[in-house]
Amino acid sequence: MVNTEKFIKKAIEEIRIAAGDEKVVMALSGGVDSSVCAALAARAIGDRLIPIYIDTGLMRKGETERIKMLFGNIQLQVIDAGAEFLGALKGVTDPEAKRKAIGERFIRVFEREAKKPGAKCLLQGTIYPDRIESEGGIKSHHNVGGMPLIVEFTKVIEPLRDLYKDEVRDVAGALGLPKEIQHRMPFPGPGLAVRVLGEVTPEKVAVVREANWIAEDELVEKYQPWQCFAALIGLGTGVKGDNRIHGWIVAIRAVNSRDGMTADPLNIPFEDLIRIGSRITAEIPSVARVVYDITPKPPATIEYE
Ligand code: XMP
Repeated sequence: MVNTEKFIKKAIEEIRIAAGDEKVVMALSGGVDSSVCAALAARAIGDRLIPIYIDTGLMRKGETERIKMLFGNIQLQVIDAGAEFLGALKGVTDPEAKRKAIGERFIRVFEREAKKPGAKCLLQGTIYPDRIESEGGIKSHHNVGGMPLIVEFTKVIEPLRDLYKDEVRDVAGALGLPKEIQHRMPFPGPGLAVRVLGEVTPEKVAVVREANWIAEDELVEKYQPWQCFAALIGLGTGVKGDNRIHGWIVAIRAVNSRDGMTADPLNIPFEDLIRIGSRITAEIPSVARVVYDITPKPPATIEYE
């Protein structure tokens, strides 16, 4: 466990030195990692920090509105890039290819937006587990392995690179960030794309977004899991009204974990699971079936792709 106060001092100094006189652009997703990065950088370089929120079209329901509200006091640039991301994902089915396509889009959108104010440095909230999983070839994190080689930034600053998630939360607390941010569940950079098996289409994203909203509504407050969500894992037969339908299969995943490296499924009472299933099939007509994922990590990962 790092010494939080010492870490904060060191990180601010590191950002200040790395940035020099340059403007620094960063992706502010509103998760704990990027929020901590933004808070550190704001202390280090003030308004030379240019935080950009990219709406990838793969965000959770209400997320963009929430970000605007939470960060209304800093000069946050909100970029609507949904069409661009969904376009890049068209026809892509391989999980690694999806991550690469998203990673590449992220960087390109940034390069474009960073050019406008003339920013040469990129600040990223990469944490330790992101790095070791990417370096070990397990998967490409959108903010590490997914980065194309030709980036136009002269410098990439990653002040959280040696921290685990729980350490980042401690730093968030010490920086005085709102509790909502400090304890926020992790949400993957590639967003809902890794919660849709196979090709990502606007229809699938809309279904998984709604199912995810219901899962969070039912589970977050009551169980305070480390992470919970819904994923779209396939198509199956169902019966709605008098008709047999070919509908989506939604998986609910809820886990406890220390740092995301290993995880255990939550022991949720059956009646709560039944209620989640009923809500999802009732509120989303195209869903035929809901299952609960009982697999720990390992052997399963937390996300589906
Ligand atoms: P997995 O699925 O590998 O996920 O067991 C472990 C934790 O990492 C999150 N995750 C990501 N976070 N970029 C991120 O910022 C990514 O590409 C990414 N992929 C997975 C996942 O939500 C879980 O908390």
